[in-house]
Amino acid sequence: MSIEIRNHGRVGAEILGVDIGGNLTADEFEAIRSAFVQHGVVFFRDQLLSEEQHIGFARRWGTININRFFAAHPTYPEIALVLKAPDQRDNIGGGWHTDHSYDAEPALGSVLVARELPPVGGATAFASMYDAYEALPARLRIRIEGRRAVHSARHVFGSKPREEIRDSDTRAGRIGNSAVADVLEDVVHPIVLRHPLSGKQAIYVNPAFTIGIEGLDEEESRDLLAEIYAHCQNPGFIEDFHWREGSVAFWDNRATWHFARNDYPGYAREMHRITIEGAALD
Ligand code: SIN
Repeated sequence: MSIEIRNHGRVGAEILGVDIGGNLTADEFEAIRSAFVQHGVVFFRDQLLSEEQHIGFARRWGTININRFFAAHPTYPEIALVLKAPDQRDNIGGGWHTDHSYDAEPALGSVLVARELPPVGGATAFASMYDAYEALPARLRIRIEGRRAVHSARHVFGSKPREEIRDSDTRAGRIGNSAVADVLEDVVHPIVLRHPLSGKQAIYVNPAFTIGIEGLDEEESRDLLAEIYAHCQNPGFIEDFHWREGSVAFWDNRATWHFARNDYPGYAREMHRITIEGAALD
């Protein structure tokens, strides 16, 4: 089998000719690593991974983060469950975000495996924060240069979440541990990071977990973040990944945003996610 890398539309790369549940050769590992670093997200098809193989693949990239807030797989705590029941209205991840930006050393990436899919819909959209940075209008670039933003998980996972989250039906049995979220310290990261693997610059604020900008008051922060987010949602930086049985996505949280589309009312969707620890950003 020879490995082949194809561009996945505007964002990411599809990797063919590799069995990620098996023993990757050094060349295969390097080809995947290099596509991941360059594209920010890589996709695989027809993998049919067991839970052990999912864990084994994730471990190749670093230490697994045991998720503090999502329901865990009953046998494998390394696997966080991203569940939507047929009678549920809202979904987990149904807004632009990047995982774990609220950590002092944010996650490197996540490996998501499809376990149960709706007959139509349920794609995951990805946005390239490398492309968003490259295309920043000069006036916006100057305003954010050297600035840092504050990130938190309290308003999402804590006991007093934001209104739309409090009223969401994603929480019961699927999201928990609010006491841990309540005592999390806010963290600060640069608005534009220098990516630790690629050396490229990328935008690193996101609508879910960024709560303000250092040195600006609430209104100024809100306005500037709104401008950045509007820019990052330009369709030119976005591509949907359409899941099939056996599909796997491995994304870089420092180079992309993602968004779980919620367009399959009446059907279940079950995804298994493993998140890999990262490093401090600068
Ligand atoms: C996530 O936001 O981590 C999950 C994405 C998805 O379920 O498509």
